[in-house]
Parts: sequence; structure tokens; C-alpha cells
Amino acid sequence: MSHYYQYDVLIIGSGAAGLTTALTLPQHLRIAVLSKGDLSSGSTYWAQGGVAGVLDDSDTIESHVQDTLIAGAGLCNEEAVRFTVENSRSAIDWLIEQGVPFTRNDSGSADGTSFDYHLTREGGHSHRRIIHAADATGAAIFTTLLAKARQQSNIDLIEQQVAVDLITANKLGHQDNVCLGAYVLNRTTDEVDTYAARFVVLATGGAAKVYLYTSNPDSACGDGVAMAWRAGCSVGNLEFNQFHPTCLYHPQAKNFLITEALRGEGAHLKLPNGERFMARFDSREELAPRDIVARAIDHEMKRLGIECVYLDISHQSAEFIQEHFPTVYERCLTFGIDITKEPIPVVPAAHYTCGGVVVDKHGHTDLANLYAIGETSFTGLHGANRMASNSLLECFVYGRSAAEDITRNDAQVSAPEQLPHWDASLVTDSDEDVIITHNWDELRRFMWDYVGIVRTDKRLLRALHRVRLLRYEINEFYSNYRVSRDLIELRNLALVADLIIRSAMQRKESRGLHYTLDYPELRDPAQNTILSRAKADD
Ligand code: FAD
Ligand code: SIN
Repeated sequence: MSHYYQYDVLIIGSGAAGLTTALTLPQHLRIAVLSKGDLSSGSTYWAQGGVAGVLDDSDTIESHVQDTLIAGAGLCNEEAVRFTVENSRSAIDWLIEQGVPFTRNDSGSADGTSFDYHLTREGGHSHRRIIHAADATGAAIFTTLLAKARQQSNIDLIEQQVAVDLITANKLGHQDNVCLGAYVLNRTTDEVDTYAARFVVLATGGAAKVYLYTSNPDSACGDGVAMAWRAGCSVGNLEFNQFHPTCLYHPQAKNFLITEALRGEGAHLKLPNGERFMARFDSREELAPRDIVARAIDHEMKRLGIECVYLDISHQSAEFIQEHFPTVYERCLTFGIDITKEPIPVVPAAHYTCGGVVVDKHGHTDLANLYAIGETSFTGLHGANRMASNSLLECFVYGRSAAEDITRNDAQVSAPEQLPHWDASLVTDSDEDVIITHNWDELRRFMWDYVGIVRTDKRLLRALHRVRLLRYEINEFYSNYRVSRDLIELRNLALVADLIIRSAMQRKESRGLHYTLDYPELRDPAQNTILSRAKADD
């Protein structure tokens, strides 16, 4: 039997963004935090490099702002960048207060910074400004915030719950639109429960699983973008999919990232013959922004017909490598690669979704009482290319500001009236799950081949035809059969793929992460790609 729950705030997602909001809200509010897998199933747990912020006396807000604007290739919203950077110190102080065990200077190498914590460097940053917990920053942050949330009796942390769709006043036939809650598949009972809430926060992470090769965990299916779109929200800049230059290339290694901090600490990119090549592409060499490094690697792989390039840090001492990069060192060793002695085979893979649900500086969407924060949102911070370690920062800054906004509006928003239960009376159990697995594979493969690092009009058109066909089949399946996690994710991925392709087709220029052979130049003025829902079946 399905259940009906009533909360003040429903937070869909238990990563950095969701947990930050939950912990910043006042304790008189009843809060549910949902995760579709284990609570640690988002990208947050896997983050390696760290969190960017202006932390050292020799660094300035202006410098972090300028670096972000440059990496964003002229498309960042400067107000959002300033807002984020100006709040970076207080967000990181808050993390330290929660007890996150960031690496201190005395346990790392002396680097002359005046801040007590070790700061590393990554692509695009002109200063050392990345605070980190060795090379497992996400796990340290997630574990600390989760432990804090567990101590609060007003927060229910509920795993294995897959949000299917938002419940809105429009969908219930009312004129004025407002978000009222969500339908959620309980993976233990296989029933779809109803969560009514005064405020709903989408903190569902990115959509990199839309590509065949990705650094992301399985949760990154763009569910928040898809649900928000179906609820009538606008989405922005979805054509900017970031490919991380260095994921481990090994037949048995699924999704393992080799942190950019390795390059920050001097690692070199090399061809199979040992030759360095980045100087041919950018004067910042290995520390150029990610779009440039990923494209350079892709170019060299295609030019030489090679399966990977190599990242070499073996010129640093074994002690330094093991102390700063214990996770990468251990993981590579399990595949027989000793990074203190030999280079690491690497390839680019889909890593981060720069676009998302359009929000203001409080994470508020264009639907009343609905917020979107973290990777699922589009704040304008990243422009055409996210700078390393600005993503976690965005989760904390916007997670906190969304919580403040909810607190301000608390008194004005009343609980929704009784919502209808999910209607499963017209569906049956599927006897053809092969359609789901087949379409998953097909979708991710053509997105990789046609909507990847280098695009053309022809490739995008091919992808659009295919995605339209897939969406038709998937929607038919969805209307007739009981929902499962795989089906919900596939339906969302196909919609997000469609939105990515449509956004990419609108951009008749090459900017940041969107590179097309048909329009290799920048076009003035720089413009965001905002899609708004025209038809209910879009
Ligand atoms: P996530 O942490 O991805 O959490 C999403 C949550 O939503 C999960 O709990 C998931 O289960 C839940 N969810 C999703 N859909 C549903 C649904 N339908 N129903 C219910 N729950 C749902 N960024 C940096 O700034 N610095 C780094 O060093 C860094 N390193 C990275 C390394 C790796 C390997 C990866 C993959 C990313 C890295 N990033 C880094 C990016 C950064 O980690 C993410 O952008 C950030 O963690 C996203 O946090 P989030 O809270 O928005 O979402
Ligand atoms: C990394 O450690 O290379 C990832 C950093 C990021 O995605 O910001």
C-alpha cells in the first residue's frame, strides 16, 4: 500500500547541496532528505580535488572572480560569480565548524601560505586556493555533514526513494502554479508514495550519465532537470557538458577520476612516446582550463589513433605522492600501476553539467516554492566552462542561501491540501525490460559519438532524430508499465539528452565546452541558451 507523508521541506538529494540546506534550516521545520540509492550515492562522496575559496592573505576576491570569468569564456553571470566568491570564506568556515577534517599545512608540504590549511591548485586558478582533505575531499565533507544531520531529530534521512515527478497546482487543474510535493518510488515496497511539502528543494546532482564514459556515479541522470522541466521550469545552458581531461583508462576501472590536483602539483601530460604536448595548445600548459585540456587530449588521440594519453607525476618524491594523493595511489596500485614510478593512462570523460534549472541567487526556480541547488541548477556561476572546485563551493553557498530564503518565507506558505495518491490502476508489470537496457545503451553511445567534445550540425541532427524516436518508445512504455528506477532514469536521461541537443543546436559558435567544427569562432554578444517549455508534451 502506498503512503502519504507531510513535511515542511522536502529535499530531493543527499549530496553536498541537499545536506547543506537541511543543516542550515531552522530546527522547528520538519525536513525529509531523500536519496534514490544509499545516502552516499551522489557525486559529492567521490569529489577529490577540493573546494575553491579566497582563504589566503595573498589571494583576493577579485582574482578568484576574474579566474572564474576567464574559465567561463565570457558567459558567466558576474553577479552570481561575485555572490559565490564573496561567500566562499564563510561557507568554508561553516564546513570547518561542522568538523570537516581538511588537510592542515603542518601535515602537508610548507608552501608559504598564511592560512592554517594546505591549499592546492587546479586548472584556471591563478592562486593556490583549493582547500581539501588529501584527495578524498568529498568523502570527508559528506561523512561530516551526514553525521551532523543524523544528530538532528527534525531531519529524516530516507534512502532508496526515487522521486518520479513533482506535484504542481497546474497538474491538479489549478490556474496559479505552485509546487506542492512529489511522487516518490519506494524501492523497498515498490509503491509510489506521496510527499506533500510546503517547500521542495531539488538537489539531485548532474546528468553526466547521459554519456557513455563518465566520471560520475550511477545517480547522475539529470532527474532534477527533467522533473523541473515537466513542472514548467526553464532550463539554461545545457549544451555545456564538461569533460574531465583525466579519468583512469583501464578495462576494469569504472568511473575513476585522476584529480586535477595532480597537475596542480606538477604532473605532466604525455604522449605514448613520452613527449609533452600541452604547450602546443595553451601557454598555461597542463593548468589551462579543462575544456582546453580535454580538447587537446581528444585532438592528440584522434591525430595519432591512440587509446589514451599519460599523466606523469613520478618525478615527485614517492613520499609526497603518497601523502597528497593516497586514494589515487592506492586505486591505481590495485590495477598494477605504481604512480610513484610510472605514468597513468588517462582519457577524458563526461564529468559535470554546467547548465541546469534556472534559479536566482537564492536557488529559487520560476515555480513558486520550488528551489534547485547544486549541480542540478543553473546559477550563472560557471558560464561556458566550470573552473575546477567551484562546484562544491556553489553547493554550499547556494544551499545556505536557499535555506535562508525558505526561512524568510516560512510564515507565508501554508501546507498543501490533501493531494491525490499516485494512480497505478492502468499499468501492468513489464514483460519487456530489454527495451530499457537497450535504450540506455543506445542513448549514451550516440550522445558520446554525436554530442561529445567536438560537435557538428550533422552530428547534432542525427542525435536529435534518434532521441526523438527513443523518447516516443520510452513514453509509451512509461504509460503502460509500472515504474522502476531504471525506467524513471531512462525517461529522464532521454529528456535531458533532448534538451542538451536542442541547446547545442541553438548555439552557432564555439565557446568554452561547446565546440563545433561548423562554427569555430566566438560570436558576440555572449548569450545564454534558455529553453522554456512550449507544449505540455515537449
Ligand atoms: P550529488 O552529490 O550528486 O547528490 C545528488 C543526490 O541526489 C544523491 O543523493 C542522489 O541519490 C539524489 N537523487 C538524484 N536523483 C534523485 C531522485 N530522482 N530521487 C531521489 N534522489 C535523487 N567538484 C568540486 O568542486 N571539487 C572537486 O574536487 C570535485 N571532484 C569531483 C570528482 C568526481 C569523481 C566527480 C564525479 C565530481 C567532482 N566534482 C568536484 C563535482 C562535484 O562533486 C559535484 O558537482 C557535487 O558534488 C554535486 O553535489 P550535489 O549535492 O549537487 O549532487
Ligand atoms: C578533480 O579533483 O580533478 C575534480 C575537481 C572538480 O571537478 O572540480
